[in-house]
Amino acid sequence: MRDQWNSKVGFLLAAIGSAVGLGNIWRFPYVAATNGGGAFLLPYFFAIITAGIPILILEYTMGKTYRGGAPVTWARINRRFEWLGWFQAMVAFVIGIYYFAIIVWVLSYIGFSFTQAWGSDPSSFFVEYLGLTDSALNFGGIQTHLIIPFLIIWIIVAFIMYKGISKGIEIACRVCLPILFVLILVLVIRGLTLPGAVDGLEYMFKPDWSALAKPNVWVAAYGQIFYSLSIGFAIMLAYSSYLPKKTDVVNSAFITATANHGFELFAGIGVFSIMGFMAMQQGVDVSQVAGSGIGLAFMTFPTAISALPALNGLFGVCFFGALFTAGITSMVSILQAVVSSFHDKFDIDHKKAVTVVVVPTFVLSILFITGAGMNILDIVDAFINNIGVAAGGAIEVILITRLFNPEKLRREANEFSNFSIGRWWIYSLRIITTVLLGVMLFLNTKDFIYNGYGEYAASDINVFGWGVILFVILAADFLTTLKGKDGYRDLDKISYKEVN
Ligand code: ALA
Repeated sequence: MRDQWNSKVGFLLAAIGSAVGLGNIWRFPYVAATNGGGAFLLPYFFAIITAGIPILILEYTMGKTYRGGAPVTWARINRRFEWLGWFQAMVAFVIGIYYFAIIVWVLSYIGFSFTQAWGSDPSSFFVEYLGLTDSALNFGGIQTHLIIPFLIIWIIVAFIMYKGISKGIEIACRVCLPILFVLILVLVIRGLTLPGAVDGLEYMFKPDWSALAKPNVWVAAYGQIFYSLSIGFAIMLAYSSYLPKKTDVVNSAFITATANHGFELFAGIGVFSIMGFMAMQQGVDVSQVAGSGIGLAFMTFPTAISALPALNGLFGVCFFGALFTAGITSMVSILQAVVSSFHDKFDIDHKKAVTVVVVPTFVLSILFITGAGMNILDIVDAFINNIGVAAGGAIEVILITRLFNPEKLRREANEFSNFSIGRWWIYSLRIITTVLLGVMLFLNTKDFIYNGYGEYAASDINVFGWGVILFVILAADFLTTLKGKDGYRDLDKISYKEVN
């Protein structure tokens, strides 16, 4: 029998654990900050309603009904769709490789927090810590001081993965989520009681309506929702495939989305209050301290922590501890998306499927503890999210709403749900989500083609940007053509038990 969640609450905790990740704590604040602060919130909410929740309901319904990892679920809907499942799983595989690296840095920074080892210049400290080279192709060798945190994280992640769905992931989420909440609560209380907090909050919430006319703000909002909710890249399909049939998926999707975005805004309040404090100390505008990308967590935040009046170490540990717990529960979900793909198509046992996924991920993640790690991460993250996730999501809604009968899935979704979804769900996916994802994909691809990315040389972008996208496409092709276990595409009697 396939493994299964111990309870519906267990599933919800795991789904929330997957959604609440690094994306909520460091990605959301800087994406919001670089896209007009308060103005970003309107497209953000619009994206939650038109894409986030409808796609989450869709993925939960598909997973629960067709009960397989992404490729098998897609193959059971229509055998010609299996490729998309592998495409999404390979996107998850790539994300897993670099997501891991960020958790390694986070672990080191928990240690640095005790003494604020980053000193008076956290930016230079971070560059030195990474042994950062000048390009993504100049590797600069493995940074030996990263090996221990790297191995520690691998041991933790592999341990949870080998334990499986109910005994590994579910328990890890039960332990990590309450800790995460307490850590963020401490930060929010500290943030809100600091002088200058109000400036930070004003920056986060005050709308700048003119930003709404900028297409890239909308693109950023949709991108954030996909990343943050873990949709479009095989995760929620896999997680919901371990659900009993009599699950209220509509309710579950609303709970997951509310918890995830509620947490995201809550963490944002903490981060922006502290940014407001820092801006006041430095006598500059909040927009100037908000920082961007990885820099927000590893450069700006350490500066803020050092500037706090007291208990600096404690608040440092809270911030990086929160990133750590949030990161681990998302990391295992990313890997599980790939593990379930192999397990279900090839009928190998769980431990073997974990090994098939963990070993190559481990080997490739070594790239990220070289001096080129952060440059590679920056390029891969931009391409895989802006093209890979967007394409996976766009093709998903097109296949379901144009080539399949979405009415059938609507009935499946409603079958055990207290609150029935109306036809708005289909229209939202068929029209709004498809158009916006299509535009997003087009604009992102065009931008990369014409402008490259950041300051990186064309060779760096060709290898780690376009090269990675090509890898995902070819790997999906190859895995689709491999022969699976007999009858893996047929939804015959798969045994499962009902739980409460
Ligand atoms: N949903 C995960 C995050 O937000 C991937 O980090």
